[in-house]
Amino acid sequence: MKPSKPVILTGVRANNNIHIGNYFGAILPIINMAKRRSDEYDINLFIPDLHSFTTPIDHSKLYDSVLNNARVYAAAGLSLDNTSIHLYRQSYIPAHSELTWILDCFTGFGRMSIMTQFKDKSRKFLDSKITKGEMSDEQRIWDTIDRNISVGLFNYPVLMAADILLYGATYVPVGDDQTQHLEFTRDIAERMNRKFGDLFIVPKPVIQQHQFFGKDQGLRIKDLVNPAKKMSKSDESGKGIIFLSDDPKSAHKKIMSATTDSIGKVQYDKENQPGISNLLEILTLVRQDAGREVTLEQTANEYFGMDRYGDFKRIVADEVAEFLENFQNRLAAVDERAIEEKLASSEKDMNAVANETLYRVQKAVGLRK
Ligand code: TYM
Repeated sequence: MKPSKPVILTGVRANNNIHIGNYFGAILPIINMAKRRSDEYDINLFIPDLHSFTTPIDHSKLYDSVLNNARVYAAAGLSLDNTSIHLYRQSYIPAHSELTWILDCFTGFGRMSIMTQFKDKSRKFLDSKITKGEMSDEQRIWDTIDRNISVGLFNYPVLMAADILLYGATYVPVGDDQTQHLEFTRDIAERMNRKFGDLFIVPKPVIQQHQFFGKDQGLRIKDLVNPAKKMSKSDESGKGIIFLSDDPKSAHKKIMSATTDSIGKVQYDKENQPGISNLLEILTLVRQDAGREVTLEQTANEYFGMDRYGDFKRIVADEVAEFLENFQNRLAAVDERAIEEKLASSEKDMNAVANETLYRVQKAVGLRK
């Protein structure tokens, strides 16, 4: 089965703890976009389960968390009957791993070492060891890298390139932390095309992707405790993150203790008031999720100049708690069987598409006649 329409593709890693950064930054925009664009595009929404353990995880939970991700998509409004929408698991399509190996052999070691996600994640790990006083000299730091930073983490972008190139995706809506990986994907596709003739469809340049998806594409919800950094599931304490599975009451508390500033007036000013600006964004998003047609500008105007941060936070906390309650009800109502059927049928179709691309590449590199 070859997709007859251009392809939009994205993935969110399997995790038990999807947070509102993933939900509003990645899941919801693609589901809204899938609703709007599935007449003109094939929509590939997949769960990169092989990417889920590039850093250590609890493997006993992986399988269920993958299914949970699929349930979250359905609860977020993904239509399971739409045949232009494909919902699948990366590891159920072996061509991903196989193309990765081939692409690996055309990828320079130096090119991979400059990837910021790899550098950030390995550094975070090392920093945690250093603060705990577990390391003292350089040799031990290198030992720790050798033993703990996986080749999988290093290699992450190549598997991501395979995810995209197998289906000839034109558009790949991701958060801006993934820009470098997208650029790498374009790069390797162009290089392979130059060497072997037209093997791959090259995804659009990031700037055109931004134009296509509008400004939401670069959206980044920030951590509540440290609004200088993005909300991220690798944060250990969890205090700055609202998970979709959070009890609404504890989410309420997290918002009430969100870091603000000493300026003392509500306004949208990302540079000087990152905490308040983040709360304004979150408030707008939960209102939009509740079906209200509001923009960030309108929300910012509504609360502009309010000088009691506690009152403002309470409004945000109440609405976030309400959002969670509604979302969790929708999640509980999702039909498990329908999810499993959708996965099975998409995986069958996508194996056919992916294998066709893989075969073309195998022929080009001399593995097939
Ligand atoms: P993952 O699971 O780390 O992130 C999934 C998506 O969520 C975005 N994101 C955010 N958006 C807004 N605010 C935040 N705080 C926030 N945190 C995360 C990420 O940018 C991402 O778009 N490498 C991908 C998964 C992947 C993929 C692919 C995506 C694997 N192969 C092929 C597209 C195409 C990732 O970052 O997953």
